[in-house]
Parts: sequence; structure tokens; C-alpha cells
Amino acid sequence: MVIDLLTKHASVRRYKDEPISKEVVEELVRAGQHAASSHFVQSYSVVHVTDTEKRGQLAELSKNRRQFYTAGAVLVFCIDYYRLEHAAKLLDRTIDYSVAENVLVGAIDVGLFAQNVAIAAESKGYGICYIGGVRNAPQEIGDVLGLPKGVVPVFGMSIGVPDEANEVKPRLPLDAVLHENSYDVEKYDELLPAYDKTMQAYYTSRSTNQKEATWSGDMADFLENPRRTHMKEFMRKKGFEFN
Ligand SMILES: Cc1cc2nc3c(=O)[nH]c(=O)nc-3n(C[C@H](O)[C@H](O)[C@H](O)COP(=O)(O)O)c2cc1C
Repeated sequence: MVIDLLTKHASVRRYKDEPISKEVVEELVRAGQHAASSHFVQSYSVVHVTDTEKRGQLAELSKNRRQFYTAGAVLVFCIDYYRLEHAAKLLDRTIDYSVAENVLVGAIDVGLFAQNVAIAAESKGYGICYIGGVRNAPQEIGDVLGLPKGVVPVFGMSIGVPDEANEVKPRLPLDAVLHENSYDVEKYDELLPAYDKTMQAYYTSRSTNQKEATWSGDMADFLENPRRTHMKEFMRKKGFEFN
């Protein structure tokens, strides 16, 4: 059942030393391509990094060594307006993809594409982990991968035969994310402390990386200060003005 597969997802960060063939990667990417796409722009590309030296550079630049060095396959997902600009050029036309709306379109498209790849991989028994660390050094990683203007690396994905099985992380209670007819601002005073208890119990009892923490505390730590502020200028250089 697809729903069983979805609800059993847990990121995998340790893989067996078993490479994934190009044929399998192609099968996964083809499945990814069948995700819905805003106005059918298909504004994404993915780079399959098979070169050992480039993998090493990604590992160091993204500060995510274990996954880039040990995964069976490493993918870097990008928002891609280069191809759309090129398609227009072939018709002697120009496009303007610089507005904030197109950043959203690209980000949604690449996210849906990648999640299809992830589900396809998991359906074949592989584990996956997204790697946002790619945005630690987007310019340098873009240079390593030869990404032209209009192409923004947004996250990586490691895929491989799992060498560990993480417990499924408890999600927010359904009521926290599901609203009926209008957004209910009242419900969080009760829901969030209850969820923090659930997550505290999970964090202190899980089999690896135990810690004393709550979800709300972790999120405040994460969001207290702006992160990766270099992304705005990097995106501007790539042609996105956010108008
Ligand atoms: C876009 C994105 C970027 C992520 N980046 C990282 C990362 O750099 N390193 C990592 O270990 N996990 C990363 N993750 C995995 C999340 O930490 C993980 O999905 C979340 O904690 C929920 O856990 P689960 O996937 O095991 O259910 C990322 C997930 C997403 C969607």
C-alpha cells in the first residue's frame, strides 16, 4: 500500500557499501518526472554525481561528509530556468523568470519532483535523505557542477541500501496541520505542549542520537536567527530578482 510506505518513511544517514546503477537512478528520475508541474514548466534538473572527486568536493562544501561519501547514489536537485530560457531562445523569444512568483514555482516543482524520486526509491527498498547542506556553499557547488545562470542547487539527496533503520519520527498531531474551512489560531496553546511531550519522549528513547529536547525548543533554536542569508544574493546572481 502506498500509504503504508509513506507513513513508514524515516531518513537514512548510514548506507551499506552498495552502489546504485545508472539504470536504477534513471528509473527513479523518470518516476520523479511524472510529478505534477505548475503550468507544466518542469522547472527542475537533477545532477547525478558519479565522479568521486566531485562527490568529495560536495561532501566538504556542504559539510555533510558521511552521506556524500557513503551513499549508493548522490543527486543534487536544482530549480532550473536555464532550459526554459533556452527553449524561448530557439523560438527567437525572451522570457523573464526573475519574479518571486517564479522562485515559488521552481521551488514547488523541484520539491514535488524530488519527493517522487524519494518515494520511488523507498518503494524499491532503498533509504534516502535530503541534504539541505548544499545551500551552505551554493556558488562553489554550482561551480563544481557547472550550473549555468537560471539554475539554483536547492538540496541534495543520498540514496542507498540502509545500514540502519531509524524509528519513524512522530509528526505533529493531525489537528495541528488540518484546519476546516478557516485557519484556527486558538488550538496551538494545547496542541504544541502536548506534542513537545511526545517528541521529548521520542528523543530520549530513540535508538541513536538520543537528546533532551522538545520540538518547539528545537524550532526556536533553528529559526531564532536568519540562516544562509547568502542565498538572496546568490539567487540574484542567478537571475532571480524577487520582484
Ligand atoms: C529539504 C530538506 C533538507 C534536509 N537537509 C538535511 C541535511 O542537510 N542533513 C540531514 O541529516 N537531514 C536533512 N533533512 C532531513 C530532515 O532532517 C528529516 O526529514 C526530518 O528530520 C524528519 O525526519 P524523517 O525524514 O526521518 O522523518 C532534510 C530534509 C529536507 C526535506
